[in-house]
Amino acid sequence: MAEKKLNRWDLLKMKEARDSVVWVTAYDFITAKLAEKAGIDMILVGDSVGMCIYGYDGTIPVTMDQCIYHTEAVRRGAANTFVIGDMPFGSYQIDVPGAVANAVRFYKEAGVDAVKLEGGKRVADVIRAIADGGMLVMGHLGLTPQSSTALGGFKAQGRTVEAALDVIDDAQVVYEAGAFSILIEGVPPEVTRVIRDKLPIPIYSIGAGIYADGQLMIISDIIGHFEAFTPKFVKRYGDVAGEIKRSVEDYIREVKEKKFPGEEHCYSMIEGELPKLLKALEK
Ligand code: KIV
Repeated sequence: MAEKKLNRWDLLKMKEARDSVVWVTAYDFITAKLAEKAGIDMILVGDSVGMCIYGYDGTIPVTMDQCIYHTEAVRRGAANTFVIGDMPFGSYQIDVPGAVANAVRFYKEAGVDAVKLEGGKRVADVIRAIADGGMLVMGHLGLTPQSSTALGGFKAQGRTVEAALDVIDDAQVVYEAGAFSILIEGVPPEVTRVIRDKLPIPIYSIGAGIYADGQLMIISDIIGHFEAFTPKFVKRYGDVAGEIKRSVEDYIREVKEKKFPGEEHCYSMIEGELPKLLKALEK
């Protein structure tokens, strides 16, 4: 378990020391608690909750209320961990005051340490306003799932000179707008390296290579819980889906074969009560 909750200055020191920050997503109390016990540095309550928990095709339908419920549960499970609330689609696109109000909701109702939102130049004013409100904002660039339709699908980004320069440019703008760190998704490692070396804030990767200041993975991917598809950048460390399936199959079989419940799973009547009951039933 982490000795103490990290803060932005610890994260900066870790960047300077080239000590990788390791983080995962989580959406519920128990998983957050287990991740904290395992020693995770940070937790993102991602809008990937839409796919991993609600069974949506993407993140677009996810609402602010859903994000607040899940973030609040994670906060309770991991009181000692830096928790980031993910601003869902529609919570920061309409106007700047609305975006600030939604960031405030994450802080007041779910006790987050930071919020994250997707986009570069087009969201610079939102990042600035949230940061000016005294809150920590993480940028998210590259393959940004909320704009996957505009990007032509869940495709790697920054693979040509022009596209790479665009991501690097966006990172500079997001930094200047006041982001305390940036998550880069689905871009070649060399592009991440340029950004990491250029900017004095922590630069994290999900599918953006080894040169970042830390790595994020979706918990449902690494534990082998989410089976619909697996991006190239995911490594599986477990088979939770297989274990759930096996457990439920064993349970079904044992009930059908009258092997469960056994005596050890039953309550006995209080001493002397059974004969009295039988007698009562005779009347
Ligand atoms: O919602 C999420 O989990 C995310 C990751 C895909 C980076 O934003």
